[in-house]
Amino acid sequence: MKINLIVNGEKKIFEIEPSDILLDVLRKNGYYSVRRGCDTGMCGICTVLLDGKPVPSCSVYAARVDGHEITTLEGIKEAKELATLLAEEGADQCGYCSPGLIVNTIYLKNKNIKSMEEAKVKLIGNLCRCTGYESQHRAIEKFLGVKK
Ligand code: FES
Ligand code: FES
Repeated sequence: MKINLIVNGEKKIFEIEPSDILLDVLRKNGYYSVRRGCDTGMCGICTVLLDGKPVPSCSVYAARVDGHEITTLEGIKEAKELATLLAEEGADQCGYCSPGLIVNTIYLKNKNIKSMEEAKVKLIGNLCRCTGYESQHRAIEKFLGVKK
């Protein structure tokens, strides 16, 4: 079957099987920022925006998003600014969790999140095995321009 999507602002038609998962369809079509972690919707590593809202792409059937809009890290201009802050704060160790964290943080920035405490709660689903989160939070605080 074919699905029509807008990916990062571009119209796309993908050939899929009804059982295909969005994560796999995106990677198969070159969106390599979308990474597989837990594969159960728990780690946040595969996060993309679906019609502007963060979702774990490992937990979404591609057939369900026919006609919808997907944004991956590749399509987010401010991603570089946050990636640089993460690197400067030492929060980009293996970097495997970074794409999902960046996508979710940029969603929060667009939602005008008011405090770091609020941001931490919203980012609780973005797991990281390396950093202990302190360095990530310093970078995110600077990026969002919020107080603790
Ligand atoms: S791989 Fe999707 S949430 Fe972990
Ligand atoms: S930097 Fe390695 S998992 Fe987060």
